[in-house]
Amino acid sequence: MKINITANNTAAKTIIFPLVDNEKLAENLSKIAKHVGLSAETLQQDFKAGAKETLVLYGAIEGLEKVYLLGLGKAPKAIDFVKVFRSFFYNSKKKLPKNIGLKLKLAGLEAFTEQIVNGICLAEYEVGAYKTDVKRVGEFYTEEAILEIQVADICLESAEKSAEIGQAIAETQTRIMTLVDAPANYKYPQKLAEFALESGKKYGFEVKVYDEKQCLELGLHALLAVGRGSTENPARFIVMEYNNLSGKGKKVGLVGKGVTFDTGGISIKGSASMSYMKSDMGGAGAVLGAMELAAKLKLSVHLIGVIPTTENCVDGNALKPSEVISSYSGKSIEVIDTDAEGRLVLADGLAYIKKNFEPEIIIDLATLTGNCIAALGYAAAGLLSNNDELANQLLEIGQETGEKLWRLPLWDDYKDMMNSDVADIKNLSSAPVAGAITAAKFLEFFIDSHANWAHLDIAGLAFGDSEFAKMKSATAYGVNLLTAFLRKN
Ligand code: BES
Ligand code: ZN
Ligand code: ZN
Repeated sequence: MKINITANNTAAKTIIFPLVDNEKLAENLSKIAKHVGLSAETLQQDFKAGAKETLVLYGAIEGLEKVYLLGLGKAPKAIDFVKVFRSFFYNSKKKLPKNIGLKLKLAGLEAFTEQIVNGICLAEYEVGAYKTDVKRVGEFYTEEAILEIQVADICLESAEKSAEIGQAIAETQTRIMTLVDAPANYKYPQKLAEFALESGKKYGFEVKVYDEKQCLELGLHALLAVGRGSTENPARFIVMEYNNLSGKGKKVGLVGKGVTFDTGGISIKGSASMSYMKSDMGGAGAVLGAMELAAKLKLSVHLIGVIPTTENCVDGNALKPSEVISSYSGKSIEVIDTDAEGRLVLADGLAYIKKNFEPEIIIDLATLTGNCIAALGYAAAGLLSNNDELANQLLEIGQETGEKLWRLPLWDDYKDMMNSDVADIKNLSSAPVAGAITAAKFLEFFIDSHANWAHLDIAGLAFGDSEFAKMKSATAYGVNLLTAFLRKN
C-alpha cells in the first residue's frame, strides 16, 4: 500500500472521516451531511464519535461508494489514534478497496498523522504465517493500493514526514511481532543472529555474532551454562553498534533477554502454557527493533545492543540445580533453579556491555518473572532503576506510547535474599516473595555499580491477548518505547 499525502480532494470512492467527540463534532457532522446529501440531524443522531464507533454510508452521493465515519472518543491521546485505526483497519480489511481517501483536514487531526499511519500499517499483520491455505485478505494491503491522506496545505510537509516515520516504525514492529510469534522450530539463537546481521546490513549498523566457541573464549560462562541443555541449537552472543553521533546525543546500551524457548531446564515448567515460552526472547525482540529503527530513522545516538541468546532445554548435559557456575564478570553463581535462567544470561550481557562500552545509560528488557505479572498483571511492565531521572523519563514515555511501565523498588532491603552460602550470589531467593524485585537485585550485582541503569520486566507484555488473535500473540512491546526514548534523547 502506498501512502500519498495531499492537500487536494481525493478521487477515491471510499472515504473515511475520523471524528473526535468534542465541541466541533456537530459542525463537522453538518459539513459531512452536506457533502453526502443527508440531513445534519440524522447524522448527529446516529453518530456520537465514541472510540472505535463506526458508521457506514453507502452510495450517499454519486461517485462515492462508501463513506465511513470513525469515532475517536473524547480527547484522544496519541496512543488512542494507533488503537482506533489499527482496530478499524484490521476489522474492515476484507471489505476495504484498493483506493481509500482519509480526510484528516476536516477535524484538524494532522498532528496525529504518525500514529494514524502507524495504526493503519500495523493492521496488516496476521498471525497465521504457517497456514498452508493462505487467502488474500482484501485488496487494501496490496502493492497497488493507494491511501490518500488529505491534510491542510500548511501541514503538507510535516504530515509527509510523519507518515514516513509511522510507516517505518510499523514495518519494524511487524517484523518483530513475526519473530516473537515464530515457533521454537523456526526460531533459535542462530535465527536471531541472522535477523540482526540482515538488519544491520540493510539499515547500516555493525553486527558481530559470537558462536559457542567464541563465547567460551570471551568467558560468557553463565550464558553457556544455560545453553548446555540445547545440543542442536547452541547459544549465540550478538553485539550490535550504531554510531550516528555528530555533536549532541548519548551513548546508550541496550541488553535483551534472548531465550528462544524456555522449558525451565531441569527445573522443568508445567506443560500448561509452556508453548508461550517461544516468546521468552521478547526482550531481544525489543532491542533488535530499536537498533533497526535507530538506524532506519538515522537517530542521533550512539547505540549498542547486546543479546545473549540461547534455548533453555532439558538434556543429560543440562545445567543442574546446585551447580556453581562462573560468569563474564568473574563472579560465581549458585544455581538454585534452572528456570531462573533469564537473569543468568542477562548477567553476562550486562557485565559485557558495561565493561566493553561504558554506556551512559543501560537499559535491559526481559520476560523475566511470573512474579512481575502477579504484581502488575498485563497492563504495565515492571520498571526497576537505580536512577530517578531515567526512571521518570521512561515512565512518561510509557504513558505516551501506551507501552506502560510501573516502578517497583530496588531497595537494598531485598539484597540479602540473594546471598548464597557457597557462591558470590544465588539465582533464586528462598523466600517466595518479591520475585520481580529480587531478580532485579540479582542483575544489579552484575552492572558493576553503573549509576544509570533501568531494568524492564516485560513478562506480561511481550506476548498477550488482543483483538487480533484468538490465542495470545506478540505485541512488539518495547520497540515503540525504546524508539521514543531514543528520539527524545
Ligand atoms: N521466562 C520466565 C518468566 C515468564 C513467565 C515470562 C511467564 C513470561 C510469562 C522465566 O525464565 C521464569 O521461568 N521465571 C520463573 C522464575 C522462578 C523459577 C523463580 C518464574 O517467574 O516463574
Ligand atoms: Zn525460566
Ligand atoms: Zn525465561
